[in-house]
Amino acid sequence: KRIAIFASGSGSNAQKIMEHFKYSNLAEVALVLSNNPEAYVLQRADNFEIPSHIFDKKALYETDEIIDILKRLEIDLIVLAGFLWLVPQHLLKAFPNKIINIHPALLPKYGGKGMYGDRVHKTVLAAGDEEHGITIHFVNENFDEGEVIHQAKFKIEPEDTLEVIKFKGQQLEHQYFPKVIENLLKKYN
Ligand code: GRF
Repeated sequence: KRIAIFASGSGSNAQKIMEHFKYSNLAEVALVLSNNPEAYVLQRADNFEIPSHIFDKKALYETDEIIDILKRLEIDLIVLAGFLWLVPQHLLKAFPNKIINIHPALLPKYGGKGMYGDRVHKTVLAAGDEEHGITIHFVNENFDEGEVIHQAKFKIEPEDTLEVIKFKGQQLEHQYFPKVIENLLKKYN
């Protein structure tokens, strides 16, 4: 099976996925795509000798360039790992039920446009929630709304700062994302 990862930033999740599948018999990461030429994820892909592709808004939203690349590489699963743009209809149609995302909160809480990065954790702390967590879900035409595949939670301690809850969430993301991808791919055949 062949995985493509879309990422806009650091790519610590992409890193875990590339590590997980490096010696796998089931799947490989065939391509990393980014809208951000400065994204550290591109360096990470290089380190794994995985090819990458940079694209702009026009290429993604107004042409079939990305779909053509993904089809040519026979991509089975598209993984959004910190990808900040909405996935366009024509890409969703070309890969039905084959695009997943990770979100650093317990959806349906704290999702939607603009809800990413520290904003999420700040909002969670301000709300006084007692638990927080992560969601891995299928992608649809709206931000953070597709069917949930997996969630993992932790308790927020009274003394927990933004940095602490962010770190706890990241640990869960790194722990579960590769495994959830693996389980999903096992069902494909
Ligand atoms: C993660 O917190 C993920 O949930 C969100 O974007 C962040 C990406 O982090 N969608 P990284 O680039 O994988 O380090």
